[in-house]
Amino acid sequence: MEVDRRAFIASIGGAAVVATMDHEAKAEALEHYMEEQLDAQVAAQQGGQPEKFPTVAEIEAQIETRPYRRGAGSVFVGQRGENVKKLQPMPPKPTLKDFFELRFAPANHVLQSATRALKTGMSEEVILACLLHDCVLSLIKPDHGWWGAQLFEPYIPEKSAFAIRYHQTLRFYPDPEAGYEYPDQYYRIFGHDYQPPQYIADTYKWLKNHKWYMEPRLVTVNDLYAFDPNAKVSLDPFMDIVGRHFKQPKEGLGFDNSPSAHMWRTLARPDSPL
Ligand SMILES: [Fe+2]
Ligand SMILES: [Fe+2]
Repeated sequence: MEVDRRAFIASIGGAAVVATMDHEAKAEALEHYMEEQLDAQVAAQQGGQPEKFPTVAEIEAQIETRPYRRGAGSVFVGQRGENVKKLQPMPPKPTLKDFFELRFAPANHVLQSATRALKTGMSEEVILACLLHDCVLSLIKPDHGWWGAQLFEPYIPEKSAFAIRYHQTLRFYPDPEAGYEYPDQYYRIFGHDYQPPQYIADTYKWLKNHKWYMEPRLVTVNDLYAFDPNAKVSLDPFMDIVGRHFKQPKEGLGFDNSPSAHMWRTLARPDSPL
């Protein structure tokens, strides 16, 4: 199988990232890249042609085919059309780890993204941002960058919160130099003719010249959808970073009167009628 060197380097985050990787990490990244390419080729061959992405109009036509709105957080909607399951109660003083295990689980996507960030030598603020960047999707989906930053802001470094808030915006804008391409997944979920709303375009314009532009950009570079369901990922490799940078409140998340305490309580008790 032929490897497009430039595309490969871009896929792992650009030349600067490659420079930080040891031989083993490079070999592993190459292997992973080739697997992905192979999967894409097989999928294209099986279908006989490249995937056809929906239009915005086709996606909008699906709205009235569902008993819930697409923006509902995942704890509020049954998986694969099934009824929701009873949730295990949270311990009295819940920690971030408890929320990962009992409300964000399986959390494959964020764990995989953080694993990649760890392997490619990102800063601890960026690794933490990768680990937390989409957790709020359990609660709500629209504007998840802003919601997610708000949820975690009282407990994490300012740079990590910045990265979480603005990764949502940067996902719509390629940056080949940084190794980020517009994702096929977005053609799939937004429609191939989708244009981000004006406030996203304005936010991007502002971000481009911000001194912290690379913080959310590196979250997008490590933001992976291709997930191997058999890969074992866990929170364990990140507990040191969490310990150093996440200010766990002694009263437990939800009970410390922080500006986002109510969001944690809602995640803890999504079956509450009011
Ligand atoms: Fe995201
Ligand atoms: Fe993500």
